[in-house]
Amino acid sequence: MFESLQAAQADAILGLIAEYRNDPRDNKIDLGVGVYRTAQGDTPVLDVVKRAEQMLVDQQMSKSYIGTAGAADFNSAMQALVFGDAGPTDRLATIQTPGGSGSLRVAAGMILRASPDASVWVSEPTWANHVPLLGGAGVTLKPYPYYDTENHVIKIDEMLAALRMAPAGDIVLLHACCHNPSGLDLSVDDWQAVADVVVERELVPFIDMAYQGFVENLDSDAYAVRLMAERVPEMMVATSCSKNFGLYRDRVGTLSLLAADTAARDIVSSQVNNLVRSIYSVPPDHGAAVVSLILHDEGLRGAWVTELAQMRERLIDMRVLLAEALAEKAPEHNFSHLARATGMFCFLGVTVEQIARLKKDFGVYMVNSSRINVAGITPDNVNYLADSIVATLRNE
Ligand SMILES: Cc1ncc(COP(=O)(O)O)c(C=O)c1O
Repeated sequence: MFESLQAAQADAILGLIAEYRNDPRDNKIDLGVGVYRTAQGDTPVLDVVKRAEQMLVDQQMSKSYIGTAGAADFNSAMQALVFGDAGPTDRLATIQTPGGSGSLRVAAGMILRASPDASVWVSEPTWANHVPLLGGAGVTLKPYPYYDTENHVIKIDEMLAALRMAPAGDIVLLHACCHNPSGLDLSVDDWQAVADVVVERELVPFIDMAYQGFVENLDSDAYAVRLMAERVPEMMVATSCSKNFGLYRDRVGTLSLLAADTAARDIVSSQVNNLVRSIYSVPPDHGAAVVSLILHDEGLRGAWVTELAQMRERLIDMRVLLAEALAEKAPEHNFSHLARATGMFCFLGVTVEQIARLKKDFGVYMVNSSRINVAGITPDNVNYLADSIVATLRNE
């Protein structure tokens, strides 16, 4: 059977990680991989997670199966975190999923069950994995304009024009905050305009929120979700606890489905649980149990908010440091978008040839789109990084 297979195309990021690892230079810099890092280059377990894990070890009495929807206490706490205390709970079904990716894949299955002819509109560009996760499941994807690579701004007018052409019932995938890969988010006014089009054209918002807490705070980062939930009858929201709880490998996320009324919600709930049973049966428990302990305990929750703020502030500081260093060393170029962007990513805005030179001559690694993870920047390497970029741009 397997003789019919050919090797799958290698993942660009994995190849880059391997090259970086094998690079003997001491001053090499990794701006490719998509995880948070401290100034020491670590992706540590949060202290609050360690504390909650210890409590879990002491308290957990059984490793028996949890149901297809996961743990009810986790789901209710996550629903409140995402939709706020005034969320439309009577119309919402929230399930625990294996990370944000698992959530997106289940959402794709729900689209195919509920509306197989609908297309999902995705930003151009979008997170690279949206394409295999949704398209690979059989959903039709269509692009809407988003990022202006010349001027480093959002093409809001073109985006709205494209969405105005979408047929009723189509689905619009939106990044709640920290747009991956561009780092540029819609403003409050832009979100209102998008919501107007969504309502007018009877589109279904599908919001991916993988970075809640990385822009400003947990509530304001959920603005888009809460705005849409007030204005539309139906929507889907995928969340991930990989970044904001640092639980990458434990696979924690949710899928929330907003239905027109409680009766419709119950039908949606039965369908999504039936779907999960046919894919992975039940979600992994450990990480979600840790999140639930943190969200339900005032002290732990406060400690988490503090650690989350530390991660956020480090990313903001590194963006500003690099933008300032480049402004000083290369005033003929405009890198102000680096400081305007949010979250872990943004485009540096250099060519594929310049990316190759940065790697070869300076040991600075990034993916070919020039998306950089600002968590790879530290106060110690920022000058070397800026010098490398400037030398490359000036062809020195
Ligand atoms: C936009 C976006 N959505 C979803 C995810 C899902 O992450 P995970 O499956 O690790 O929870 C990520 C992770 O990088 C992301 O950037």
